[in-house]
Amino acid sequence: MEEKVFRSPKKRGRVAVLLSGRGSNFRAIHDAMSEGRINAEIVLVFSNKADAPGLQMARERGLDTLHLDPKSFPDKESYDAAIVEELKKLKVDLVCLAGYMKIITPLFCQAYRNQIMNIHPALLPSFPGLHAQRQAVEYGVRYSGATVHFVWEEVDAGPIILQAVVPVYQDDTEETLAERILEQEHKIYPEAVRLYFEGRLEVRGRKVYILD
Ligand code: GRF
Repeated sequence: MEEKVFRSPKKRGRVAVLLSGRGSNFRAIHDAMSEGRINAEIVLVFSNKADAPGLQMARERGLDTLHLDPKSFPDKESYDAAIVEELKKLKVDLVCLAGYMKIITPLFCQAYRNQIMNIHPALLPSFPGLHAQRQAVEYGVRYSGATVHFVWEEVDAGPIILQAVVPVYQDDTEETLAERILEQEHKIYPEAVRLYFEGRLEVRGRKVYILD
């Protein structure tokens, strides 16, 4: 079967950030845009949590925000359909999941194929799912890290865009490791978004090529 090739667009991008918590990755991406390091703007910060600190931060930064309560929808599909509708209205080019604690349904993934990124606090495919830093400490690995990847239907399994390696020390706790990983997250997530809108990410099969 012939492989479909996806190439990210070279343009001034319109980005939506989806978050559920403190929003430090959102902040790193927004700072990079404000400093002119990324050719894109954030057109929406969305949350499933009304009281997410990241949502408050977005308001303070003068960005448009939206909260939809999952409980007021009959099922996950209709919730995601409502989000997709908002994103389409805003002509969003790229969706950045930044600590968004909900699993994206296939409907959402298919509407934005190769247009959704996520950051995961481990070197995927190791330690997918929740508490990745705790999993790494408990397993006893010497290195862990962070991964930015495209979101496909299967959780934490889409094509890998960038990774950063972080050492794990013998006396590390989940918290100390998480802190060291987070520093790297704040570097590689904005970098991945930058590459995206420079038109330099090509997805072939499940591999991402970074073009010169
Ligand atoms: C980060 O550790 C990220 O890797 C994970 O959720 C956390 C979000 O942190 N997906 P923040 O809300 O961006 O500060």
